[in-house]
Amino acid sequence: MDFTGKLGKYKIIETEDKTKTLWSEFFDEACHNLSGAYEETLYNYIQGCHIPEQIAQGSDVHVLDVGFGLGIGLKAFMAQLETTQGLKIKASYTSMELDEDLFLWSAKETFPLLVFTKKDNFYTSTHPLLSITVFIGDGRKTLPEAFKNGLLPKFTAIFQDAFSPKKNPALWTLEWFNDLKMMADNQVYLSTYSASVSIRKTMIASGWKITNAKGFGQKKTMTKARLVGLSDPILEAELSRSTTLVLTDI
Ligand SMILES: C[S@@+](CC[C@H](N)C(=O)[O-])C[C@H]1O[C@@H](n2cnc3c(N)ncnc32)[C@H](O)[C@@H]1O
Repeated sequence: MDFTGKLGKYKIIETEDKTKTLWSEFFDEACHNLSGAYEETLYNYIQGCHIPEQIAQGSDVHVLDVGFGLGIGLKAFMAQLETTQGLKIKASYTSMELDEDLFLWSAKETFPLLVFTKKDNFYTSTHPLLSITVFIGDGRKTLPEAFKNGLLPKFTAIFQDAFSPKKNPALWTLEWFNDLKMMADNQVYLSTYSASVSIRKTMIASGWKITNAKGFGQKKTMTKARLVGLSDPILEAELSRSTTLVLTDI
């Protein structure tokens, strides 16, 4: 059933892989590609951030999902951890959600068996395979604050899954990518469905090293980023010729 949250109406849409996404009235956009919400998440974030390889290496895996939405990023990460249960690694999932009603709806809908407990401005849930924390409110404030207070691990994977730069510009600025850099492990993998020139220029200006990758479904390209190595030199040269401006907070 469609529902109304703190930020207006949400419409439930079935995507082509039969999993659901939501269209948000406030952002006027759907949370996922209509070709398949779950398949897109697997492709863009689980594979895009090399989660299976990170788990197989036996090192700790700490995911930041930029926007909880329906919690599909968490569902796909948990499924990946379940396939490799023998490995003794530390895993965590951190996310942020502006609309608390949406978080509560998704928690019930996507994770009927998980119990979430609220403390201050975040919800946590304990699970044998990972610890889960979702901050309520503007992630540009809640996450850097929590990080500075020593409440967050250094992220080894960042699912940059905000709404599009057009509809959700606040989560694509130089300041935001600087904060992500501050909260990231040196070996982090960042992945996003967006291939926009302005966000790529913004990521480079923030010090991220970016590469082009084939996008999910009909999408030609997407962007992957790291803090080590170099940006793709052809891509970097192309971007430097573009007059598009770096995005900053107003
Ligand atoms: C595209 S959806 C994320 C989908 C999600 N990763 C999933 O797998 O279901 C983006 C989410 O980010 C949230 N959001 C947008 N701006 C935000 C902000 N400044 N702080 C926290 N959450 C925000 C939106 O409410 C929305 O739920």
